[in-house]
Amino acid sequence: VILTQDELKKIAAYKAVEFVESGMVLGLGTGSTAKHAVDRIGDLLRQGKLTNIVGIPTSKKTQEQALSLGIPLSDLDSHPAIDLAIDGADEVDPHLNLVKGRGGSLLREKMVEGACKKFVCIVDESKLVKHLGGSGLALPVEVVPFCWKFTANKLQNLFERSGCVAKLRSDCEGKPFVTDNGNFIIDLYVKEELGDLQVASDAILRIAGVVEHGMFLDMATTVIVAGELGITIKNK
Ligand code: A5P
Repeated sequence: VILTQDELKKIAAYKAVEFVESGMVLGLGTGSTAKHAVDRIGDLLRQGKLTNIVGIPTSKKTQEQALSLGIPLSDLDSHPAIDLAIDGADEVDPHLNLVKGRGGSLLREKMVEGACKKFVCIVDESKLVKHLGGSGLALPVEVVPFCWKFTANKLQNLFERSGCVAKLRSDCEGKPFVTDNGNFIIDLYVKEELGDLQVASDAILRIAGVVEHGMFLDMATTVIVAGELGITIKNK
């Protein structure tokens, strides 16, 4: 049987939820993979197999989903220490560094997942890359709307040698995509490797106007990969 990509996402998500224990404070991810995990947590709560869970959503969308499932919610201000977060990714490299933010929720995801004891990343095998930026997808950068072209040019110039093209993300009506935090997203398309990722990260964050970027370096403690041949669990 050939499984669809969505079935693989669900397999990875359900596996991750096996790490959830009653009484935990849980970071709830965003995206089509994380959605399956949130659904599953909702099911287990309803069945009484999990109790006393507090969810910390990483986006307004996940907040709505969790509320509709009756998952008790809170935020980082009240729960600065999170036991476990489960979330998807757009790319995973061999060192478990990630690119996230295709869904636009990278800032809240990075805040929540940076506050976790364990961060379990869930992907289907199509997300595995040799190096970040290697899938042809963009590296998303959240920027303030004020003079975003100025910031986009600075970002493009930073990675000029990697053949970088910076594009403002737009929504389905062609208007700028606006994040949950009222910001814009600049998608950086790079043709070559970014080089030292920590250096690249620092350089992006030094540009005034940048709020956060979608490289999640050294953050995932576990990556669960679902593929045609089964589940692989990679630990840091
Ligand atoms: C949301 O901003 C993203 O970081 C998602 O977590 C990531 O894009 C993975 O999404 P899918 O699970 O839908 O592929």
